[in-house]
Amino acid sequence: MQPLILPVLLASLWTVCTRAGDWCYQSQFTCDHQCNGPDKWNHANSNCGGKYQSPINIVTRKTLTDERLTPFQFNNYQQIFRGTIKNNGHTVVVGVPHLSTISGGGLPSTYKAVQFHLHWGKNGGPGSEHTIDGEQYPMELHIVHMKSQYNDLTTALADQEGVAVLGFFYEKSNSANRKYDPIINSLRSIKATNTNTSLLSISLTQLIPSEQNLTAYYRYKGSLTTPGCTEAVIWTLFENPIPLSMDQLRVFSELKFHDGNPMVETFRPVQPLNGRQVFRSGSAVILASSALLIATIATALGLSQPN
Ligand SMILES: *[C@@H]1O[C@H](CO)[C@@H](O)[C@H](O)[C@H]1NC(C)=O
Ligand SMILES: *[C@@H]1O[C@H](CO)[C@@H](O)[C@H](O)[C@H]1NC(C)=O
Ligand SMILES: [Zn+2]
Repeated sequence: MQPLILPVLLASLWTVCTRAGDWCYQSQFTCDHQCNGPDKWNHANSNCGGKYQSPINIVTRKTLTDERLTPFQFNNYQQIFRGTIKNNGHTVVVGVPHLSTISGGGLPSTYKAVQFHLHWGKNGGPGSEHTIDGEQYPMELHIVHMKSQYNDLTTALADQEGVAVLGFFYEKSNSANRKYDPIINSLRSIKATNTNTSLLSISLTQLIPSEQNLTAYYRYKGSLTTPGCTEAVIWTLFENPIPLSMDQLRVFSELKFHDGNPMVETFRPVQPLNGRQVFRSGSAVILASSALLIATIATALGLSQPN
């Protein structure tokens, strides 16, 4: 009797752990919940095994300054709209009226906003998708745009430069960020997957740093960070993070995946660069060092003495 048990047990584990399912994040994968984790996404869609995938780790000393990466023009970003926020089983997503656009910023065309969503950790722990010199921030906002000539994302994704995503990092702050109250408060009503609720008045401007703080950013070409992983995205990652308190960050971990487990660590691991160059805008990184240099010179010349 004994010798039979092991093969039977192995056979049943094998079946359970290899059954193909929907894609999932690593935090969702257990032998009881058989889904395709990030290392198997290429089974769901071969694009996910491509050479130019996102997210990536940005090594700042290997970035190259590109003077063409000028400040963005944000149009109608201050437009107040009534939106629907939805728990789609992978994230929370808000559709945006296609009236808000971006241009400049070294983009080849004007792009209009389509939706925004977030990626986060567990109770305010590491959760961003992109990392900077290996540092993972607690959360990352993606505002997804498509070239203004397109009417839907599917069409835009067929164009290698069809989609532009603006990525913003979050950092823990001591006080709550009141501009995020509408979003944070709405989360309590959409804990379950496939539920939604209205945001009565919201604007993109209120969610991101002020315009003068958006001149320092990184740029590279990559993909969507969820299946189908289409390589049609011009990525922008802003250096300046958005502040949120620990309590605000924690509320995201109260959301639930389809199976009722906490929706946590909703990020794809960083992907190989495969020879891609990451660029930085003229004012990224350099800003800090030139300020320091000027301060040093001023001190040396005795210019910084209090009057
Ligand atoms: C929101 O949920 C309602 C039902 O509760 C549904 O009719 C509607 O289509 C949903 N909206 C979105 C955008 O998912
Ligand atoms: C935003 O910019 C202002 C002035 O340009 C500066 O005082 C402030 O520190 C910046 N905020 C952040 C978060 O960098
Ligand atoms: Zn995203």
